[in-house]
Amino acid sequence: MEEIEITKPDDWHVHFRDREILREVVPETTRNFARAIVMPNLIPPILNGKQAIKYKERIKKVIPKTDDFEPFMTIYLTEKTSKNDLKEAYNNNAVFAAKLYPAGATTNSDSGVKDIKKIMPVLETMAKVGMPLLIHGEVTHKEVDIFDREKVFINQNLDFICKELPELKITLEHITTEDATMYVNQSNRNLVATITPHHLALNRNAIFVGGIRPHNYCLPILKREKHRRALIEVATNGNKKFFLGTDTAPHFASHKENCCGCAGIFNATYCMSILAQIFEDNNSIKNLEKFTSLNGSKHYGLSKNKTKIKLLKRNNPIVFKKQIKVGNNSISVFNPDFPVYWEVI
Ligand code: NCD
Ligand code: ZN
Repeated sequence: MEEIEITKPDDWHVHFRDREILREVVPETTRNFARAIVMPNLIPPILNGKQAIKYKERIKKVIPKTDDFEPFMTIYLTEKTSKNDLKEAYNNNAVFAAKLYPAGATTNSDSGVKDIKKIMPVLETMAKVGMPLLIHGEVTHKEVDIFDREKVFINQNLDFICKELPELKITLEHITTEDATMYVNQSNRNLVATITPHHLALNRNAIFVGGIRPHNYCLPILKREKHRRALIEVATNGNKKFFLGTDTAPHFASHKENCCGCAGIFNATYCMSILAQIFEDNNSIKNLEKFTSLNGSKHYGLSKNKTKIKLLKRNNPIVFKKQIKVGNNSISVFNPDFPVYWEVI
């Protein structure tokens, strides 16, 4: 049996939600991850340092005593965000980064930014103080095809921000296209990207295998196979500009299996097993640690985690649990539908 040991991973993009969901999903992340950047798209969103501190306290309360875990908080940018408040929240260590959601781009993004030009003074302040900007990189115009929204955002908005503010630290989150891999790779500025396990595991056919599959619906939406291959290439070759942000996004099954099902895949539970399988299948298990545990912390100027995790390759595929119970509701656990032999032990 094969066994590997790697530095404990970090997840640079999670949705923990709040209240009863928070309590059930946080342990799924803290079991295998030491740190995570926590998204601010609650209802209502986390708009300032005070709210971020309170949210962090709620998260800390539900971390199992056996797990050593640090949540890194974010602020949700709106056209009304005050640059002074943002600067203060960053300088006081209340928050780690700010998140840009184009209005309407995804789950709970209604109060996001309609016109990027309106937040340029805020972004300028972030560049000055060294605060990272995390971007959901999709345009929302009705006339732009849903499969092209990332590419159009890169051309219309990201390129503009990069050129206007060369000093700003930017993470293009959950990238899904070859175009994004190329743009980030060719850029010689402080621009990096995160990649999710589901975009490495699946192409867009997975949304329609034998019928409509609401549990494979997320945003940015899954793309063609050639894009998945491009993501696999940059994730598995050790490239420092690309690292893990799972975008684990819990929703009640009833809200996804619905005539207007919401976007988001809950992948925290078997994330490391799935990634180990994908890396092994691409002859790159030696680079798993870079993607999950080294590139991200290095980019953010943080030391790597001191503890390690072990993964063991079983003789038979591991059996995934199907769901997590939350009161009378449940959250479906992501299963990529190929055999996964690696188990975190
Ligand atoms: C996320 C959510 O549910 O909050 N959904 C998703 O499909 N990824 C939001 C996001 O990160 O886009
Ligand atoms: Zn997300």
